[in-house]
Amino acid sequence: EKGGWSSFMAKEVSEQPDAVANTIRGRIHDGAVAVPELTAFGDDALAAIRRITIIGCGTAAYAGIVAKYAIEKWAGIPVEVELSHEFRYRDPVITDDTLVISISQSGETMDTLMAVKFAGERGAKTLSICNTQGATIPRESDAVIYTHAGPEVAVASTKAFVAQITALYLFGLHLARVRASLSAEEIAVELHELEGIPEKLATVLRTGEIIRQLAHWMSDTRAVLFLGRHVGFPVALEGALKLKELAYIHAEGFAAGELKHGPIALIEPGQPVFVIVPSPRHSALLHAKVVSNIQEIRARGARIIAIAEQGDAAVLPFADEVIPIPLAAPLFEPILAVVPLQIFAMELATAKGLDVDQPRNLAKSVTVE
Ligand code: M6R
Repeated sequence: EKGGWSSFMAKEVSEQPDAVANTIRGRIHDGAVAVPELTAFGDDALAAIRRITIIGCGTAAYAGIVAKYAIEKWAGIPVEVELSHEFRYRDPVITDDTLVISISQSGETMDTLMAVKFAGERGAKTLSICNTQGATIPRESDAVIYTHAGPEVAVASTKAFVAQITALYLFGLHLARVRASLSAEEIAVELHELEGIPEKLATVLRTGEIIRQLAHWMSDTRAVLFLGRHVGFPVALEGALKLKELAYIHAEGFAAGELKHGPIALIEPGQPVFVIVPSPRHSALLHAKVVSNIQEIRARGARIIAIAEQGDAAVLPFADEVIPIPLAAPLFEPILAVVPLQIFAMELATAKGLDVDQPRNLAKSVTVE
């Protein structure tokens, strides 16, 4: 079933171009989003939504943080992202113009299921983003957008993550249409960008060998930090989670702007830090801020591994390694930038002789609270 791959995870990482392409397939017509599942709400009800709460656990929650940036920008609606188990055990403000979007690959995660029921009971509209046909969470929700990533067997979520972002982006652009917050032309531009992602993912996968070597050199590393800004921040969180769960290495993801509020104290000579560098073409300011963060930690001896746009010359003098990703619009960069981090964690775990498909203490689907 692994089709010649050394692990399910290796196979699933390689399937990411298809995971995105299949999640898009049939859902874009004439430069507009066509997701029939969303008719369950009706355009008027969707246009009347005043706030969105996204819930999920682990990797699914990080896909939610990425989507928050996109949905707020495109649809102009406040979006908050909360871990399912935190959401459920407090008194969140839920009104009938609140949409609660749950994200779950398995559709069976108990924490998320209970949070969806809780939201529904309090009158929220509920939308599920799910990869498993007929699972419990979509059945408990008012509507579902299935991701078509195909079955994900490895405990570490990879292709489901990129498919979740894809589905949420389709939703965000649909919402932008019903709310008229973007013009038809603007929506078509974003959708065109999304349609180009599978090919760019295939390009990123070809950098696997550089990352494999890096992981082998770093196999005795004890701690790794990940930094990102804007949509690079949830990518940093996801890179750290992958490394913890697969390689059992202490790893933390930070928003780069937080450095001087504490984490920079962790930097000592030789400390490896992955930095997700935003494209200089879209926001020179954001890019310059991240390059300046790199300089700050480099001056304290950090070993920098930059995930940067192909041809970004500004990072070269300060980075020990640069892993190039193809040019993409800013909101689409996470789908590409996460892949080297997945491969790094997988290869480092392999170098340590660990089982990448079934890490210790973890289950693929957490069906207990
Ligand atoms: O099936 P779900 O998407 O609801 O699972 C959520 C998390 O348990 C899951 O993403 C977990 O964090 C992964 N092991 C991460 O790789």
